[in-house]
Amino acid sequence: MFNVVLLRPEIPPNTGNVGRLCLATQSTLHLVKPLGFSLENRQLKRAGLDYWDEVSLRLWDSFDALQRAQAPDANYFFLTTKSQLPYYETTFQLDDFLVFGPETKGLPENLLAANKDRCIGIPMHGTRSLNLATAVAIVLFEAVRQQQC
Ligand SMILES: C[S@@+](CC[C@H](N)C(=O)[O-])C[C@H]1O[C@@H](n2cnc3c(N)ncnc32)[C@H](O)[C@@H]1O
Repeated sequence: MFNVVLLRPEIPPNTGNVGRLCLATQSTLHLVKPLGFSLENRQLKRAGLDYWDEVSLRLWDSFDALQRAQAPDANYFFLTTKSQLPYYETTFQLDDFLVFGPETKGLPENLLAANKDRCIGIPMHGTRSLNLATAVAIVLFEAVRQQQC
């Protein structure tokens, strides 16, 4: 349905949870290396429960490699705490790519600068950021909701 991209994820249970979200929405999970863990990690599989092996998973050496392998008209949205544009004011289309950054660093500045009009945020108060898997759930299910309307 959609494509969820985790750029250089660091924390195995987050990726395991995102895998479940992708399975539940029939979306593809793209992991961009380097990963902060092995794909055999026990915490990753525990968070993904028995479902991890059913997740549609693609591994990429870089974000450039991912983009080069997609159609030229593929749509990307970059999730960042630095955007003032709320995710719910975005129109999502099937097969869009939702790109999320690493837990400790967020998406790199150069990627955000090169895609300014494609950056979206989840409004929040009192914290610097949301947990990665929580952020994915919020935006992915909004994208799914829009397909049902
Ligand atoms: C734990 S956060 C990274 C924190 C990092 N210090 C930052 O400010 O981006 C991991 C990823 O979750 C997503 N995320 C978390 N909270 C978000 C928010 N309020 N709006 C948009 N994306 C968010 C972003 O993709 C972020 O790169």
